Amino acid sequence: MLARIADVYGHRFEFSEQQVGGAAIDATGDPLPADTVASCREADAVLLGAVGGPKWSDPEAKVRPEQGLLRLRAELGVFANLRPVRVNPHVAAASPLKPELVRNVDLIVVRELTGGIYFGEKSRTADAASDLCTYTTGEVERILHVAAALAAKRRSKLCSVDKANVLETSRLWRQVTDRLIPEQYPAIELETLLVDAAAMHLLSRPADFDVIVTENMFGDILTDEASMLAGSLGLLPSASLGHSRCGLYEPIHGSAPDIAGKGIANPCGTIASAAMLLRHSLELENEATAIEVAIDQVLAAGKRTADIADGGSDVTGTADFAQAVVAQIN
Ligand SMILES: NC(=O)c1ccc[n+]([C@@H]2O[C@H](COP(=O)([O-])OP(=O)(O)OC[C@H]3O[C@@H](n4cnc5c(N)ncnc54)[C@H](O)[C@@H]3O)[C@@H](O)[C@H]2O)c1
Repeated sequence: MLARIADVYGHRFEFSEQQVGGAAIDATGDPLPADTVASCREADAVLLGAVGGPKWSDPEAKVRPEQGLLRLRAELGVFANLRPVRVNPHVAAASPLKPELVRNVDLIVVRELTGGIYFGEKSRTADAASDLCTYTTGEVERILHVAAALAAKRRSKLCSVDKANVLETSRLWRQVTDRLIPEQYPAIELETLLVDAAAMHLLSRPADFDVIVTENMFGDILTDEASMLAGSLGLLPSASLGHSRCGLYEPIHGSAPDIAGKGIANPCGTIASAAMLLRHSLELENEATAIEVAIDQVLAAGKRTADIADGGSDVTGTADFAQAVVAQIN
């Protein structure tokens, strides 16, 4: 896909392939070898395939594929995870929700990726456990800037999600939000929701949302919920961004071991991740949009991978679907 974009739009991209996760453990014993880190640091952007699988899932194992991914995020300093959910009207029926409810959904969840309870100090005794949740004003401000800048380029609506009625970190989050957004982004329409209410509103009025910003754990949970608006994990892309130009782009799904090698995986999430890469790291907006339009056109023509197939569709495999999208770029 990227080679085709380069041909059609007159760019020259240099590609380098490196190992991470299980393949890297097999080859070197390390889920994130030094060569991979060096190559990613030199790159303008990183497109990642999923890590993990049953071969490396022994709970007793000290070295796991997922460690490679977490370390890579830390190495690249990517603190903002963007997950767009846009429901293509032609595949609205693939959603478990009513098609009329999801048809106009076009939202992005911006999740804080490197702070909060996942990174706090942990302790464990025989009959008690603790996970510390910490946020600083600076961490909240920088993710709000990412979310507000995105909203300003879209429908100028920002919804901040917290649990300010119970959690001190959420009270800080809300205080910073209520100050920073009106002060620095007066044109943005700000809504604040408690996370439990947000989980409900995402299902009852998903098309109302434009940009949703939230902390790490709430974002982890809400993004999986939001992904089901689109109907299949295989459809959705993501971008993880930091202060530098180099972002990390990956489909939201894992390695799908149950269908591995069958040639039936939906490639849309990966192809749309390449579109996000062009938009956010290379500032090639027209090229990014061309890819998204190409995916829409193939779906509109009735082609489907098995995960989103309906009665009347032309069911095809991964390679054929991807080729059809590539062929739309001309
Ligand atoms: N970012 C990552 O690299 C990442 C993310 C999630 C899970 N994982 C790893 O992936 C492995 C499998 O995890 P899982 O089964 O919980 O999640 P998964 O996303 O791999 O699969 C969940 C379900 O969705 C289906 N699915 C996923 N992608 C699809 C696609 N493109 N087309 C059609 N169907 C698709 C799968 O067949 C499966 O039924 C685990 O080792 C996990 O740790 C990695």
